[in-house]
Amino acid sequence: SYPSRVKLVDVGPRDGLQNEKSPVPAAVKIALVHRLQDAGLREVEVTSFVSPKWVPQMADNAEVMAGIQRKPGVRYSVLTPNLKGFEAALASRPDEVVVFGAASEAFSQKNINCGIAESIERFAPVTEAARAAGIYVRGAISCAVGCPYEGEVAPERVAYVAQLMKQIGVQHVGVADTIGVGTPRKVQRAIEAALQHYALDDVSGHFHDTYGQALANTLAALELGVWQFDTSVAGLGGCPYAKGATGNVATEDVVYMLHGMGIETGINLDKLIDAGVYISDFLGRKTQSRAATAILNK
Ligand code: HMG
Ligand code: MG
Repeated sequence: SYPSRVKLVDVGPRDGLQNEKSPVPAAVKIALVHRLQDAGLREVEVTSFVSPKWVPQMADNAEVMAGIQRKPGVRYSVLTPNLKGFEAALASRPDEVVVFGAASEAFSQKNINCGIAESIERFAPVTEAARAAGIYVRGAISCAVGCPYEGEVAPERVAYVAQLMKQIGVQHVGVADTIGVGTPRKVQRAIEAALQHYALDDVSGHFHDTYGQALANTLAALELGVWQFDTSVAGLGGCPYAKGATGNVATEDVVYMLHGMGIETGINLDKLIDAGVYISDFLGRKTQSRAATAILNK
C-alpha cells in the first residue's frame, strides 16, 4: 500500500534556477522561497555553495540564505560539494547539506571534476564537520539509471555509491534520475539498490522529467514505500553538466496526483500554483506543470 503522507522538498530555487543563463536577482529567489514556504512546503533546497565559475547562477548563495525569513518547521538545505563549500555555507545556518555524487564515473568527472572514489574522500570531511555541527547530511546519487556520457547505469553502481556514502556517515540518499531517462521498473531497481544500504525512511527520489516519465517513476517509488521526493515548482530545472536534461517533475503535478490518491502533503495547491506563476512570469515563460496549466485555464 502507498504511504499515507509524503514529504516533498522543493528544489526549484536550486536545481530549478542553477541552469538559467540570465541572472535571477537574489530578491526574486528569496521571494520564491517565501512563496514556497507559505504554500506549505516543509523543506526547500535553496542554493549551492559551489564554484561560481562552474555555476554562476548560484554565486549569490550567502545573500539568498541571509535574506530568507525563516518559518518555524521549515528546513533549508544547500549543496556543498567539498569542505570549502561547507565552510562557506556554515555562516548561513543550513538545516541540511547535500553532498552530490554520481553512479557514473564520467558524470562525476564532468559535474564535480573528480571520480567517484575521490568524491567520497571530499564528502567525508564535509559529513564529519556537518554532523559535528548538528547539520543533517543528505547525499545525492546522480545518474542512478542513466548517464549522458555512459548510457545505461546498472543498479549495482547505485548500491556501490550508496555503500560508500553510508560508510562515511551520510544520513540519507536521494536516488536521482538526472536526465529523466528512467522508466518505472528501472527506477525501482535503482531504489532497491539504495535500500540495500539505507532504510526506507532515509531514501528519497529525485526525478527529472525529460522523457515525461517522472510522475510514473514517482508512483513506482511510492509502490516501494518511498515517501520523500525532490520536486521543482513549475517544473523548473536541469543540470548545466547534463546536456539536454530538463526540469524536475513539477511539484504541482506531484501534489495533484498525491491529493487525488488521498495522500497528505501539507501543501496548498493553489498557493503553490501562485508560486509557480510568480517565477514563470519572472523568467518570461510558461509553467511546465500540466496540473497548474489546466487549473489556470479552467
Ligand atoms: P575544482 O576546480 O576541481 O576545485 O572544482 P578545486 O578545489 O581545484 O578549486 C578550484 C577553484 O575553485 C579554486 O579557486 C577554489 O577556491 C574554488 P581559485 O583558487 O582558482 O580562484 N572552489 C570553490 N569556490 C566556491 N565554492 C566551492 C569551491 N570549491 C572550490 N565550494 C568543484 C570542484 C566541486 C568546486 C566544481 O566542480 C563545482 O563547483 N561543481 C559544481 C557543479 C554543480 O553545481 N552542478 C549542479 C549541481 S548537481 C545537480 O544538479 C544534480 C542533482 O540535482 C541531482 C540530479 O539531478 O542528478 C543534485
Ligand atoms: Mg537534479
